[in-house]
Amino acid sequence: MTALRIENLSVSVASGKQDQVRWPVLHNISLELKSGEMLGLVGESGCGKSVTALSVLRLLPQPTLRVDSGAIIFNETNLLALDPKQLRQLRGNNVAMIFQDPMTALNPVQTIGKQVEEVLLLHRPQWSKQQRRQRIIELLERVRIPAPSERLNAYPHQLSGGMRQRVMIAMALACEPQLLIADEPTTALDVTVQAQVLDLIRELQRESNMAVLLITHDLGVIAETCQRVAVMYAGRIVEQASVEELFEQPRHPYTQGLLASLPARAAQPQTPLATIGGQVPDIDARPPGCAFSNRCAWRSDICSEVPVLEGESHAVACFHWQHIATENAQ
Ligand SMILES: Nc1ncnc2c1ncn2[C@@H]1O[C@H](COP(=O)(O)OP(=O)(O)O)[C@@H](O)[C@H]1O
Ligand SMILES: [Mg+2]
Repeated sequence: MTALRIENLSVSVASGKQDQVRWPVLHNISLELKSGEMLGLVGESGCGKSVTALSVLRLLPQPTLRVDSGAIIFNETNLLALDPKQLRQLRGNNVAMIFQDPMTALNPVQTIGKQVEEVLLLHRPQWSKQQRRQRIIELLERVRIPAPSERLNAYPHQLSGGMRQRVMIAMALACEPQLLIADEPTTALDVTVQAQVLDLIRELQRESNMAVLLITHDLGVIAETCQRVAVMYAGRIVEQASVEELFEQPRHPYTQGLLASLPARAAQPQTPLATIGGQVPDIDARPPGCAFSNRCAWRSDICSEVPVLEGESHAVACFHWQHIATENAQ
Protein backbone atom coordinates (compact mmCIF):
# COMPACT_ATOMS: atom_id res chain seq x y z
CA MET A 1 0.00 0.00 0.00
CA THR A 2 1.25 3.47 -0.85
CA ALA A 3 1.79 5.70 2.18
CA LEU A 4 2.89 8.82 0.36
CA ARG A 5 3.07 9.76 -3.29
CA ILE A 6 4.72 12.96 -4.42
CA GLU A 7 3.83 13.68 -8.04
CA ASN A 8 5.75 16.15 -10.20
CA LEU A 9 6.28 18.57 -7.37
CA SER A 10 7.83 21.89 -8.35
CA VAL A 11 8.74 24.55 -5.80
CA SER A 12 10.26 27.97 -6.44
CA VAL A 13 11.91 30.61 -4.28
CA ALA A 14 11.64 34.39 -4.57
CA SER A 15 14.98 36.02 -5.30
CA GLY A 16 15.77 38.67 -2.71
CA LYS A 17 14.01 41.99 -3.24
CA GLN A 18 12.50 41.28 -6.61
CA ASP A 19 9.59 39.07 -5.74
CA GLN A 20 8.60 38.67 -9.38
CA VAL A 21 11.81 36.80 -10.09
CA ARG A 22 11.60 33.24 -8.86
CA TRP A 23 14.12 30.44 -9.11
CA PRO A 24 13.11 26.80 -9.22
CA VAL A 25 14.16 24.88 -6.09
CA LEU A 26 12.50 21.57 -6.90
CA HIS A 27 11.92 20.47 -10.49
CA ASN A 28 9.16 17.90 -10.95
CA ILE A 29 10.04 15.67 -8.05
CA SER A 30 8.22 12.33 -7.92
CA LEU A 31 8.64 9.91 -5.01
CA GLU A 32 6.62 7.02 -3.69
CA LEU A 33 6.78 5.59 -0.22
CA LYS A 34 5.00 2.36 0.72
CA SER A 35 3.63 1.74 4.19
CA GLY A 36 6.17 -0.02 6.34
CA GLU A 37 8.99 1.12 4.09
CA MET A 38 11.98 3.24 4.93
CA LEU A 39 13.05 5.38 2.00
CA GLY A 40 16.28 7.35 2.10
CA LEU A 41 16.59 10.72 0.41
CA VAL A 42 20.22 11.66 -0.01
CA GLY A 43 22.18 14.52 -1.53
CA GLU A 44 24.66 17.21 -0.57
CA SER A 45 23.57 20.29 1.30
CA GLY A 46 21.47 22.64 -0.84
CA CYS A 47 19.97 19.93 -3.08
CA GLY A 48 16.40 20.50 -1.87
CA LYS A 49 15.88 17.68 0.63
CA SER A 50 14.47 19.85 3.42
CA VAL A 51 12.29 21.77 0.99
CA THR A 52 10.82 18.43 -0.10
CA ALA A 53 10.11 17.47 3.53
CA LEU A 54 8.62 20.86 4.39
CA SER A 55 6.40 20.71 1.30
CA VAL A 56 4.83 17.47 2.53
CA LEU A 57 3.97 19.02 5.89
CA ARG A 58 2.98 22.29 4.20
CA LEU A 59 5.57 24.12 6.28
CA LEU A 60 7.36 26.05 3.52
CA PRO A 61 8.17 29.60 4.61
CA GLN A 62 5.59 31.62 2.67
CA PRO A 63 5.69 33.58 0.44
CA THR A 64 9.42 33.10 -0.12
CA LEU A 65 8.96 29.47 -1.10
CA ARG A 66 5.95 28.39 -3.09
CA VAL A 67 4.63 25.16 -4.58
CA ASP A 68 4.09 25.89 -8.27
CA SER A 69 2.68 22.56 -9.40
CA GLY A 70 2.32 18.92 -8.51
CA ALA A 71 0.47 16.86 -5.94
CA ILE A 72 1.29 15.26 -2.59
CA ILE A 73 -1.02 12.33 -2.02
CA PHE A 74 -1.39 10.87 1.47
CA ASN A 75 -4.31 8.58 2.31
CA GLU A 76 -5.84 9.37 -1.06
CA THR A 77 -5.92 13.09 -0.21
CA ASN A 78 -3.89 15.79 -1.89
CA LEU A 79 -2.20 17.53 1.03
CA LEU A 80 -1.76 20.64 -1.11
CA ALA A 81 -5.54 21.10 -1.04
CA LEU A 82 -6.02 20.92 2.75
CA ASP A 83 -7.26 23.92 4.74
CA PRO A 84 -5.44 25.10 7.92
CA LYS A 85 -7.70 23.11 10.27
CA GLN A 86 -7.20 19.88 8.33
CA LEU A 87 -3.45 20.55 8.30
CA ARG A 88 -3.30 20.89 12.09
CA GLN A 89 -5.12 17.57 12.34
CA LEU A 90 -2.70 15.93 9.96
CA ARG A 91 0.55 17.16 11.49
CA GLY A 92 1.61 15.20 14.50
CA ASN A 93 -1.36 12.90 14.16
CA ASN A 94 -0.96 11.16 10.79
CA VAL A 95 2.34 12.62 9.66
CA ALA A 96 5.12 13.57 12.07
CA MET A 97 8.54 15.07 11.56
CA ILE A 98 11.82 15.14 13.43
CA PHE A 99 14.59 17.61 12.67
CA GLN A 100 18.34 17.82 12.93
CA ASP A 101 18.57 19.93 16.04
CA PRO A 102 16.33 18.85 18.92
CA MET A 103 17.47 21.78 21.06
CA THR A 104 15.84 24.36 18.78
CA ALA A 105 12.67 22.29 18.45
CA LEU A 106 12.25 21.79 22.22
CA ASN A 107 11.08 24.52 24.58
CA PRO A 108 13.99 25.17 26.99
CA VAL A 109 11.78 26.33 29.87
CA GLN A 110 9.35 23.43 29.89
CA THR A 111 9.87 19.89 31.16
CA ILE A 112 10.00 17.16 28.56
CA GLY A 113 6.94 15.48 30.08
CA LYS A 114 4.95 18.66 29.60
CA GLN A 115 6.11 18.94 25.99
CA VAL A 116 5.07 15.41 25.14
CA GLU A 117 1.79 16.08 26.94
CA GLU A 118 1.10 19.05 24.67
CA VAL A 119 1.02 16.82 21.62
CA LEU A 120 -1.54 14.62 23.40
CA LEU A 121 -3.61 17.61 24.54
CA LEU A 122 -3.79 18.77 20.94
CA HIS A 123 -4.62 15.46 19.30
CA ARG A 124 -6.23 13.44 22.12
CA PRO A 125 -8.29 16.11 23.94
CA GLN A 126 -10.70 13.51 25.32
CA TRP A 127 -7.99 11.80 27.38
CA SER A 128 -7.83 12.26 31.15
CA LYS A 129 -4.72 13.56 32.90
CA GLN A 130 -4.05 10.02 34.11
CA GLN A 131 -4.30 8.57 30.62
CA ARG A 132 -1.91 11.20 29.32
CA ARG A 133 0.63 10.55 32.06
CA GLN A 134 0.52 6.84 31.40
CA ARG A 135 1.00 7.40 27.69
CA ILE A 136 3.93 9.79 28.24
CA ILE A 137 5.74 7.20 30.37
CA GLU A 138 4.99 4.50 27.82
CA LEU A 139 6.40 6.70 25.02
CA LEU A 140 9.58 7.53 26.92
CA GLU A 141 10.02 3.82 27.58
CA ARG A 142 9.54 3.07 23.91
CA VAL A 143 12.34 5.40 22.93
CA ARG A 144 14.49 3.74 25.65
CA ILE A 145 14.80 6.68 27.97
CA PRO A 146 15.82 5.22 31.33
CA ALA A 147 13.73 5.92 34.46
CA PRO A 148 10.95 7.64 32.45
CA SER A 149 8.74 8.57 35.41
CA GLU A 150 11.60 10.68 36.78
CA ARG A 151 12.94 11.90 33.46
CA LEU A 152 9.65 13.47 32.47
CA ASN A 153 10.38 16.19 35.02
CA ALA A 154 13.72 17.04 33.39
CA TYR A 155 14.32 20.14 31.28
CA PRO A 156 15.91 19.79 27.82
CA HIS A 157 19.29 21.18 28.94
CA GLN A 158 19.52 18.42 31.56
CA LEU A 159 19.58 15.80 28.82
CA SER A 160 22.31 14.81 26.36
CA GLY A 161 21.87 15.45 22.63
CA GLY A 162 20.97 11.82 22.02
CA MET A 163 18.38 11.83 24.82
CA ARG A 164 16.87 15.04 23.47
CA GLN A 165 16.51 13.48 20.05
CA ARG A 166 14.79 10.51 21.75
CA VAL A 167 12.32 12.94 23.32
CA MET A 168 11.64 14.41 19.87
CA ILE A 169 11.03 10.92 18.54
CA ALA A 170 8.66 10.20 21.45
CA MET A 171 6.73 13.36 20.59
CA ALA A 172 6.64 12.39 16.92
CA LEU A 173 5.32 8.93 17.78
CA ALA A 174 2.80 10.12 20.38
CA CYS A 175 -0.18 9.67 18.06
CA GLU A 176 1.18 6.71 16.10
CA PRO A 177 1.62 8.47 12.75
CA GLN A 178 1.52 6.45 9.53
CA LEU A 179 4.36 8.52 8.14
CA LEU A 180 7.48 9.87 9.83
CA ILE A 181 9.75 12.33 8.08
CA ALA A 182 13.18 12.46 9.68
CA ASP A 183 15.33 15.30 8.31
CA GLU A 184 18.99 14.71 9.21
CA PRO A 185 17.90 13.27 12.58
CA THR A 186 21.40 12.26 13.63
CA THR A 187 23.60 14.82 11.92
CA ALA A 188 24.13 16.84 15.10
CA LEU A 189 25.04 13.76 17.20
CA ASP A 190 28.33 11.96 17.90
CA VAL A 191 28.96 8.88 15.78
CA THR A 192 28.15 6.34 18.52
CA VAL A 193 25.00 8.15 19.59
CA GLN A 194 24.08 8.50 15.93
CA ALA A 195 24.16 4.73 15.52
CA GLN A 196 21.97 4.24 18.60
CA VAL A 197 19.37 6.73 17.41
CA LEU A 198 19.30 5.16 13.93
CA ASP A 199 18.87 1.71 15.47
CA LEU A 200 16.00 3.07 17.51
CA ILE A 201 14.26 4.63 14.48
CA ARG A 202 14.63 1.37 12.57
CA GLU A 203 13.26 -0.70 15.46
CA LEU A 204 10.30 1.61 15.98
CA GLN A 205 9.61 1.58 12.26
CA ARG A 206 9.50 -2.23 12.23
CA GLU A 207 7.32 -2.44 15.35
CA SER A 208 4.77 0.04 14.09
CA ASN A 209 4.95 -0.58 10.34
CA MET A 210 4.99 3.15 9.69
CA ALA A 211 6.56 4.60 6.57
CA VAL A 212 9.72 6.62 7.13
CA LEU A 213 11.32 9.16 4.83
CA LEU A 214 14.87 9.44 6.09
CA ILE A 215 16.70 12.50 4.83
CA THR A 216 20.47 12.65 5.10
CA HIS A 217 23.56 13.89 3.27
CA ASP A 218 25.30 10.65 4.33
CA LEU A 219 24.84 7.53 2.21
CA GLY A 220 26.40 5.51 5.04
CA VAL A 221 23.36 6.27 7.21
CA ILE A 222 21.06 5.00 4.47
CA ALA A 223 23.02 1.78 4.00
CA GLU A 224 22.35 0.98 7.66
CA THR A 225 18.66 1.73 7.72
CA CYS A 226 16.75 1.97 4.44
CA GLN A 227 15.35 -0.43 1.85
CA ARG A 228 15.20 2.04 -1.00
CA VAL A 229 17.00 5.25 -1.77
CA ALA A 230 16.45 8.32 -3.92
CA VAL A 231 19.43 10.50 -4.78
CA MET A 232 18.76 14.19 -5.19
CA TYR A 233 20.89 16.74 -6.98
CA ALA A 234 20.08 20.43 -7.54
CA GLY A 235 16.35 19.96 -7.01
CA ARG A 236 15.92 16.80 -9.05
CA ILE A 237 15.86 13.09 -8.33
CA VAL A 238 18.78 11.74 -10.35
CA GLU A 239 18.72 8.08 -9.29
CA GLN A 240 16.39 5.77 -7.44
CA ALA A 241 16.91 2.10 -6.56
CA SER A 242 16.97 -0.46 -3.79
CA VAL A 243 19.83 0.15 -1.39
CA GLU A 244 21.63 -3.01 -2.55
CA GLU A 245 21.38 -2.06 -6.23
CA LEU A 246 22.51 1.46 -5.59
CA PHE A 247 25.54 0.39 -3.59
CA GLU A 248 26.51 -2.40 -5.96
CA GLN A 249 25.74 -0.76 -9.28
CA PRO A 250 25.41 2.97 -8.93
CA ARG A 251 24.51 4.44 -12.32
CA HIS A 252 24.64 8.19 -11.94
CA PRO A 253 28.09 9.79 -11.79
CA TYR A 254 26.86 11.84 -8.82
CA THR A 255 25.86 8.71 -6.90
CA GLN A 256 29.22 7.16 -7.78
CA GLY A 257 30.92 10.23 -6.37
CA LEU A 258 28.88 10.13 -3.16
CA LEU A 259 29.75 6.46 -2.71
CA ALA A 260 33.42 7.02 -3.41
CA SER A 261 33.57 9.66 -0.72
CA LEU A 262 32.27 7.27 1.97
CA PRO A 263 35.17 6.60 4.36
CA ALA A 264 35.04 2.81 4.01
CA ARG A 265 35.15 2.99 0.21
CA ALA A 266 37.68 5.78 -0.08
CA ALA A 267 40.05 3.52 1.85
CA GLN A 268 39.98 0.92 -0.94
CA PRO A 269 42.76 1.87 -3.34
CA GLN A 270 41.28 -0.14 -6.23
CA THR A 271 38.10 1.96 -6.36
CA PRO A 272 37.94 3.43 -9.86
CA LEU A 273 35.75 6.29 -8.69
CA ALA A 274 37.14 9.63 -7.69
CA THR A 275 35.47 11.91 -5.20
CA ILE A 276 33.47 14.69 -6.79
CA GLY A 277 35.16 18.01 -7.27
CA GLY A 278 33.38 21.33 -6.90
CA GLN A 279 30.16 21.91 -5.03
CA VAL A 280 26.40 22.09 -5.42
CA PRO A 281 25.69 25.21 -7.49
CA ASP A 282 23.65 28.02 -5.96
CA ILE A 283 20.05 28.11 -6.97
CA ASP A 284 20.65 30.93 -9.50
CA ALA A 285 23.73 29.28 -10.94
CA ARG A 286 22.50 25.78 -11.76
CA PRO A 287 23.78 24.84 -15.23
CA PRO A 288 21.06 24.45 -17.86
CA GLY A 289 20.43 20.87 -18.92
CA CYS A 290 21.95 18.33 -16.53
CA ALA A 291 22.73 20.37 -13.42
CA PHE A 292 25.56 18.00 -12.52
CA SER A 293 27.32 18.48 -15.88
CA ASN A 294 29.78 21.12 -14.64
CA ARG A 295 31.17 18.63 -12.09
CA CYS A 296 30.96 15.56 -14.27
CA ALA A 297 33.87 13.85 -15.97
CA TRP A 298 31.51 12.20 -18.49
CA ARG A 299 29.76 15.31 -19.80
CA SER A 300 29.31 15.86 -23.52
CA ASP A 301 27.24 18.17 -25.74
CA ILE A 302 24.02 16.28 -25.09
CA CYS A 303 24.24 17.17 -21.38
CA SER A 304 23.02 20.67 -22.22
CA GLU A 305 19.59 19.01 -22.32
CA VAL A 306 17.82 17.78 -19.19
CA PRO A 307 18.08 13.99 -18.86
CA VAL A 308 14.79 12.28 -17.94
CA LEU A 309 14.63 9.92 -14.96
CA GLU A 310 14.14 6.55 -16.66
CA GLY A 311 13.75 2.99 -15.40
CA GLU A 312 11.35 1.15 -13.11
CA SER A 313 13.02 -0.51 -10.13
CA HIS A 314 16.34 1.22 -10.83
CA ALA A 315 15.84 4.66 -12.34
CA VAL A 316 18.55 7.09 -13.43
CA ALA A 317 18.65 10.49 -15.11
CA CYS A 318 21.89 10.47 -17.11
CA PHE A 319 22.54 10.30 -20.87
CA HIS A 320 25.73 8.35 -20.35
CA TRP A 321 24.95 5.79 -17.66
CA GLN A 322 25.17 2.72 -19.91
CA HIS A 323 28.44 3.88 -21.39
CA ILE A 324 29.79 4.56 -17.88
CA ALA A 325 28.70 1.13 -16.67
CA THR A 326 30.52 -0.54 -19.57
CA GLU A 327 33.68 1.46 -18.94
CA ASN A 328 33.61 0.79 -15.20
CA ALA A 329 33.16 -2.95 -15.80
CA GLN A 330 36.44 -3.10 -17.76
N1 LIG B 1 13.95 29.87 3.48
C1 LIG B 1 14.60 29.92 2.32
N2 LIG B 1 14.83 31.09 1.71
C2 LIG B 1 15.48 31.16 0.54
N3 LIG B 1 15.96 30.08 -0.12
C3 LIG B 1 15.79 28.90 0.44
C4 LIG B 1 15.10 28.73 1.69
N4 LIG B 1 15.09 27.43 2.00
C5 LIG B 1 15.72 26.81 0.99
N5 LIG B 1 16.15 27.67 0.06
C6 LIG B 1 16.85 27.34 -1.20
O1 LIG B 1 16.55 26.03 -1.56
C7 LIG B 1 17.72 25.25 -1.75
C8 LIG B 1 17.50 23.87 -1.17
O2 LIG B 1 17.45 23.97 0.25
P1 LIG B 1 17.23 22.75 1.23
O3 LIG B 1 16.01 22.01 0.84
O4 LIG B 1 17.28 23.28 2.59
O5 LIG B 1 18.51 21.85 0.92
P2 LIG B 1 19.02 20.56 1.71
O6 LIG B 1 18.04 20.23 2.78
O7 LIG B 1 19.14 19.48 0.67
O8 LIG B 1 20.36 20.95 2.23
C9 LIG B 1 18.84 26.02 -1.05
O9 LIG B 1 20.04 25.93 -1.75
C10 LIG B 1 18.35 27.44 -1.06
O10 LIG B 1 18.85 28.09 -2.20
MG1 LIG C 1 18.31 20.14 4.85
